[in-house]
Amino acid sequence: MTTTNKSKKDYSIYFQPPSYSDAKKRGKEDIEVHYDFNVPEDMKEIGKDKFYLIQTYGCQMNEHDTETIKGMLEQMGYRSTDDRKQADIILLNTCAVRENAEDKVFGELGHLKHLKLEKPSLILGVCGCMSQEEGVVNRIMKKHPFVDLIFGTHNIHRVPVLLKEAMFSREMVIEVWSKEGDIIENLPKKREGIKAWVNIMYGCDKFCTYCIVPYTRGKERSRRPQDVIAEVRELARQGFKEIMLLGQNVNAYGKDFEDIEYRFGDLMDDIRKIDIPRVRFTTSHPRDFDDHLIEVLAKKGNLVEHIHLPVQSGNNEILKRMSRKYTREHYLELVRKIKKAIPDVVLTSDIIVGFPGETDEQFEDTLSLVNEVGFDSAFTFIYSPREGTPAAAMPDDIPAEVKKQRLYRLNDALNAISKQRNELLKGQTLEVLVEGESKNNANVLAGRTRTNKLVHFEGPKELIGQFVQVRITETPTFYIKGDWVQEAVTQQLGS
Ligand code: 5AD
Ligand code: SF4
Repeated sequence: MTTTNKSKKDYSIYFQPPSYSDAKKRGKEDIEVHYDFNVPEDMKEIGKDKFYLIQTYGCQMNEHDTETIKGMLEQMGYRSTDDRKQADIILLNTCAVRENAEDKVFGELGHLKHLKLEKPSLILGVCGCMSQEEGVVNRIMKKHPFVDLIFGTHNIHRVPVLLKEAMFSREMVIEVWSKEGDIIENLPKKREGIKAWVNIMYGCDKFCTYCIVPYTRGKERSRRPQDVIAEVRELARQGFKEIMLLGQNVNAYGKDFEDIEYRFGDLMDDIRKIDIPRVRFTTSHPRDFDDHLIEVLAKKGNLVEHIHLPVQSGNNEILKRMSRKYTREHYLELVRKIKKAIPDVVLTSDIIVGFPGETDEQFEDTLSLVNEVGFDSAFTFIYSPREGTPAAAMPDDIPAEVKKQRLYRLNDALNAISKQRNELLKGQTLEVLVEGESKNNANVLAGRTRTNKLVHFEGPKELIGQFVQVRITETPTFYIKGDWVQEAVTQQLGS
């Protein structure tokens, strides 16, 4: 364990930076599952009449970690607030995947300094993926010494203990385990609304050369099937309408089990039988997408016909240097198999432009793949080096302007496909889960189709949280519009 404080001079003995060679050597041993989490007795009342605020950056995994931290804080008596001045604890749950997420956090720390000066009892903490990076922790220690607490992604269950240390110590409390932790099963979670996230696995062993995640989140480890299934059953009992199964690479689920042969396809087949209307998952990796999984997804029911399948590039040389472990041909073949089994499937993706050495021709391959697959949408990224990853040692030689132009062209191509695909929906009546009022117009309701498309339509507020049928009338690029088909209010499962 590596708990320390800022008075210790030789910080390096408490923290090992990400190391590609060490991380790649990691084995399957040592992961234990614990079912015995408890908030210590002397911390159960500590938050009475006090407030917390957590700012979350990055992916859904982080959002879900925030729900866990909130769950623990509420067991300690704290309540949530949106008002920074009212907060007794402010935590920044950070993301290391993209450069601008890191810049935002450092900017935010600058603003929070004034709050801390006004209210010295305020506990200010930084957690999440950035805390797993040595450079970041050093920078906080030097430039933002007013931060009280830093903890990593493997230390979340230690929040009550760490908070106590931060409250009663005058030093900065830092606990970051560079080696992944065990699986802690019974952490409390503060879930809200009609949709719930469920972790099925942690970490990633893929080591794509641009990606920091295998270092910040540790090695792949799957939750036991019975624990995942029990959690989904409980969410169904509580009335949640949709669950999102989470993992960096969900279809590697179960590869680390040594005692049972049970993979992601088996898990989906079991969850399919649970009475929860919609089940999604993210993110899947093309390499581990096996035929059994396709067969199970084709059974539909509560398994929706949307697959997020990051391709990253359409060029074999770049895919090889990204260490994606598939080719363009393999990806296209997988898409063909998926479309054959699920003809109405919606495919979305993650794509990076400007990877080191990417030529114009190689970028054109990405554009042609995008057109060939016909993604309904994609998250697009400009490559930025992450310290400690193999790609960071490659010359980042594409001028910023060229990277930007490629991003614009890619987004234009994606928008054109999206428009075409949405136009095909005109006149169709689709099942929509109503999530709330539209952001810009309180008279309009917003919901999602099974394929995760945003739908706007007019209807009474009582429909929020329900499934309704909507006939699609108009298809602007970023959402679709329709008319509520009144007689068909449904609560049943999908097709
Ligand atoms: N630069 C740009 N994009 C990145 N991603 C991950 N690492 C980087 C990086 N260094 C993107 C990938 C991944 C998504 C979550 O973020 O496309 O799928
Ligand atoms: Fe990162 Fe995803 Fe590759 Fe894992 S599979 S290294 S999380 S991009």
